[in-house]
Amino acid sequence: MSNILVRAANGAVDWFNERAPGFMPFYRKHMSEYYAPKNFNIWYIFGILATVVLVNQIVTGIWLTMNYKPSAAEAFASVEYIMRDVEWGWLIRYMHSTGASMFFIVVYLHMFRGLIYGSYQKPRELVWVLGMFIFLALMAEAFFGYVLPWGQMSYWGAQVIINLFGAVPVIGPELTEWIRGDYLVSDATLNRFFALHVIALPLVILLLVALHLFALHEVGSNNPEGIDIKKSPKGNRWSANAPADGVPFHPYYTVKDTFYVGFFLIVCAFILFFEPTLGGLFLEHDNFVEANPLVTPEHIKPVWYFTPYYAMLRAIPDKLLGVATMGGAVIILIFLPWLDRSPVRSIRYRGWLTKILIAIFVVAFVCLGWLGLQSGSTAQTWAARIFTFYYFAFFITMPIWTRIDATRPVPQRVPEHD
Ligand code: HEM
Repeated sequence: MSNILVRAANGAVDWFNERAPGFMPFYRKHMSEYYAPKNFNIWYIFGILATVVLVNQIVTGIWLTMNYKPSAAEAFASVEYIMRDVEWGWLIRYMHSTGASMFFIVVYLHMFRGLIYGSYQKPRELVWVLGMFIFLALMAEAFFGYVLPWGQMSYWGAQVIINLFGAVPVIGPELTEWIRGDYLVSDATLNRFFALHVIALPLVILLLVALHLFALHEVGSNNPEGIDIKKSPKGNRWSANAPADGVPFHPYYTVKDTFYVGFFLIVCAFILFFEPTLGGLFLEHDNFVEANPLVTPEHIKPVWYFTPYYAMLRAIPDKLLGVATMGGAVIILIFLPWLDRSPVRSIRYRGWLTKILIAIFVVAFVCLGWLGLQSGSTAQTWAARIFTFYYFAFFITMPIWTRIDATRPVPQRVPEHD
């Protein structure tokens, strides 16, 4: 019996390969014969986790759309309906809202890995730039999604963010009206944000992620040592031409990643089942109140993942300058591959100056995130100004400090190779 099944399965595979001869070479190039450095550590799981969350967002999003109503009159009630009456609706909704925050957690950590191991340095500049486009698309996706439940914070958050475009000289007022599709945030705005959130941006993100991975697989992965395994000796137990310090992505990293994905899903399950709003951090309390254009919430603030940039915006008294600072803080990251002039990639072979400056950068970024959640007292505004200054100084002076900082010689092969 099992012989018949094996023959049938082999027959089906042969049938498929005859008709799609390009598939197996594609699978080999990206999976079973993609040689990844053997010394990946925990920092290398966030790309996979981001992929897992992306799939979760798409699947739960499709199910939410089955009962969500994209109209100002019905949106809030339809979300309540999903939460109370649709079978398992509360789980789908919390999976989607928790997924949004988890997305930013893993993507921020994924980007930070790039910073400490110099993953954006030549020849991976394109991988980084495509990653930054994903990040921009992800921010837009999260913003549009947050408007959909039509709660107080959805409404007023949209109001504040769209009004920022009013600071653009000359065309500002027309631009805000064009974005809203009305004189104020309204049904028309909700409708277009729904279209962008459920179809336009997911398509863009999926395409960008595919390009991100193709670009990575052309040049090969970096690693915690920052060594070019493609330039090191050739020949391992699978192939005489493959890098000596590489292992096939499948099954080595597929198995390792599966373990971490399991662990990650357990953490997500704890949040989902015990504290789905995470004390108002993942889903704000004000958003459980229906949008009311006549009542402004006491503190309008975005979800935590935008607050570092929001704190920068609030710290600058001039509206145009504030918007430029906030936008500039994101845009400057695109240029990281050209700002970093260090001859070595990994922080492991860099001097104390780099380590200290990166540590302070982390503190500044986290503090900005916290400040963006606060009411914005005078002391808090000044603290935000200091951290904003450091944030920009860190990047603008990077070409200098990466050049003057001491480095250690990078070995030819990964030290763990024996
Ligand atoms: C939806 C979001 C994203 C997904 C699904 C994703 C996926 C991945 C995957 C699967 C990898 C290979 C595994 C790994 O190295 O972790 C990777 C590598 C990489 N990603 Fe992303 N990524 C995303 C966003 C970003 C962003 C926002 C950036 C930075 C701006 C970025 C920069 C990089 C870099 C530089 C590498 C190569 C790392 C190395 O080889 O050391 N990615 N990405």
